[in-house]
Amino acid sequence: MIDLTGKRAVVTGAASGIGRATAELLAELGASVVLADLNADAGEEAAKAIPNAVFSRCDVSRAADCERTIGLAREAFGGVDVLFNNAGIIRRSTVCEITEDDWDLVMAVNIKSIMLMSRYAVPLMAEAGGGSIVNTGSGWGIQGGAQAVSYCASKGAVVNMTRAMAIDHGPQKIRVNCVCPGDTATGMLADEARQLGEPVESFYADAADRPLGRIGTPRDIASTVAFLASDAAAFVSGAVLAVDGAGTA
Ligand code: NAI
Repeated sequence: MIDLTGKRAVVTGAASGIGRATAELLAELGASVVLADLNADAGEEAAKAIPNAVFSRCDVSRAADCERTIGLAREAFGGVDVLFNNAGIIRRSTVCEITEDDWDLVMAVNIKSIMLMSRYAVPLMAEAGGGSIVNTGSGWGIQGGAQAVSYCASKGAVVNMTRAMAIDHGPQKIRVNCVCPGDTATGMLADEARQLGEPVESFYADAADRPLGRIGTPRDIASTVAFLASDAAAFVSGAVLAVDGAGTA
């Protein structure tokens, strides 16, 4: 049912975790993929392992990098049909603890990036007669969470920005949706553990008690993104989809 043959995709944060798994799956389903990431070593390595893929070193918080990345999609594949705005970072702190620099960085990487990547991709999608943008929110963007105030604020903004973009760009036949992962086994959990000074195992300790008996895998999120990217989701736009196994994020 999900066939992405001929689709041209750009995935940010594609060097690891959810982004890499999604780039792999989109390619398996027939898409050509631009993998964009700040981490050039891991990104190059990932792109080499994926058929019909190229890498773009891209800091998604910088307009010039985003413009160049979308330009590469046009050069390499002739356009963009699918944009997965996935790159993200977390800082585990309260409003009293967070530095102004960290606040600005989280907002730039998690939310400003979506404006930047999308503003360069939308004209190419419109030119092609439509497209699909998937933004990465989080369960914490809906319900909040402890000691991650900038992250929760940025992800809440992603959720509502998704609806606004879906309304604005529907007439251009561009669908815009948001996927909200729950805890997913990626480097981000290890990064959080380091910031909190806890062993990473503590993030997995209660996994068996969750409704489906586990936390998410990157592939769990990737398959939802593949659906949203595909024509099978032709009437799905402005949706905010939790992919969390009914667990708390
Ligand atoms: P990850 O840490 O494995 O991957 C994030 C990727 O983004 C890395 O490859 C990193 O190099 C890249 N990145 C960071 N800053 C960047 C920048 N300025 N420009 C370009 N690339 C940059 O983490 P994961 O879990 O795969 O995260 C993907 C998305 O999923 C993020 O938006 C995250 O907030 C979201 N998410 C993850 C959850 C989890 O439990 N892992 C839960 C809810 C949401």
